[in-house]
Amino acid sequence: MGNPTDHLWMHFTRMSSYQDAPVPTIVRGDGAYIWDSEGRRYLDGLAGLFVVNAGHGRTELAEAAAKQASELAYFPIWSYAHPTAIELAERIAALAPGDLNRVFFTTGGSEAVESAWKLARAYFKRVGKPMKHKVVSRHIAYHGTSMGALSITGLPGIKADFEPLVPGGIKAPNTNFYRAPEHGDDPVAFGRWAAEEIGRAIEREGPETVAAVFLEPVQNAGGCFPPPPGYFERVREICDAYDVLLVSDEVICSWGRLGEYFGAQRYGYQPDMITTAKGITSGYSPLGAMIASDRLIEPFLHGTESFAHGITFGGHPVSCAVALANLEIFAREDLVGHVRANESAFRATLEKLYDLPIVGDVRGDGYFYGIELVKDRTTRESFDDAESERLLRGFLSGALFAAGLYCRADDRGDPVIQLAPPLIADQTQFDEIEQILRSVLTEAWQHL
Ligand SMILES: Cc1ncc(COP(=O)(O)O)c(C=O)c1O
Repeated sequence: MGNPTDHLWMHFTRMSSYQDAPVPTIVRGDGAYIWDSEGRRYLDGLAGLFVVNAGHGRTELAEAAAKQASELAYFPIWSYAHPTAIELAERIAALAPGDLNRVFFTTGGSEAVESAWKLARAYFKRVGKPMKHKVVSRHIAYHGTSMGALSITGLPGIKADFEPLVPGGIKAPNTNFYRAPEHGDDPVAFGRWAAEEIGRAIEREGPETVAAVFLEPVQNAGGCFPPPPGYFERVREICDAYDVLLVSDEVICSWGRLGEYFGAQRYGYQPDMITTAKGITSGYSPLGAMIASDRLIEPFLHGTESFAHGITFGGHPVSCAVALANLEIFAREDLVGHVRANESAFRATLEKLYDLPIVGDVRGDGYFYGIELVKDRTTRESFDDAESERLLRGFLSGALFAAGLYCRADDRGDPVIQLAPPLIADQTQFDEIEQILRSVLTEAWQHL
């Protein structure tokens, strides 16, 4: 038998890393744990990839998929419908905030983001503002990899190879308070400043050319930047003032991750669209959605008008059936309430790590945290590229995994460890995470 990587082209992966080393191969999951092909157990500290919210090994989700596939494996939602898509759209509309009543299914997050940008452009063409086409997003934010979504993404490192991108992707500052360039001692003033920067970006570009602002409730890339108090309130006002749509990209932040069904509900703002995916099925089948307000579908409801956009597998019957069964679990076990009840214990447990000199900042909300690592806690000095490479890729990722914790050591911004366990996790898993991080980070400090 050849090497497993002879044919499998892994995503965002340095293939050379596995020429002489085995690829970690995960074969089974149960609850908050996964097992590899050697029979070793790991705590799934990232819910796969912010996906497996209800936890692994839910046979009722597998059964829902099997039942739907036996009954009707596939039919498109192009001019026809099927019962699970109808029922799921109704369910999502009931859970989504305000008048976000229109559900456009996709197969994943990038397609949801892509669909939202296309809808923003098509909508403004129909209401007599055809120049509105640009989008504002934040520095080092991740919004997906298809060409449109990639143009909204703010990570230079994953864009360079694919230039030129779709024109019209404008960047504004993110809400990294730990590294605030202004108002570093006052979160309210910082939030105000960061929101106003979005307004200034719109002004610079010309409000008549800007269609939408794409923001995650908590920005993932860079390591969990929650919104400062008042931030979204001010962003909403700015969007209203310039007639710019506010898109809440909740591919990670919905389905309980932040202790609400949607992140916008947690921070009390009303978006014009929500993009979602990942946890909607807890990963038992792929699905995404763009959820739009009544206002945005209105121009497409009359005469010969239609939104000229679709995806063969968007709203796949099996995925919709799985999502419905997943939402049944959410309701029955009150997973969202479980996150709310336990999030402060999760935070408190992670904050114990502040006694390690390498831990600069512990930040996040719900079951979604980033731990920023620093060389000097007093000055907040970060690691240079070579140190970061040695620390994160050379040591931490492997050492955490070897110690039984699957999570992500990320350096797309400053070096961070990202944590987002399945929502069923409780103090037992929090303690396990803390203990493994403590021992591995202590060793990492000695390596420096
Ligand atoms: C906020 C956000 N938007 C979009 C995406 C893209 O989703 P997908 O990988 O399903 O295409 C992601 C993926 O992690 C994401 O985190």
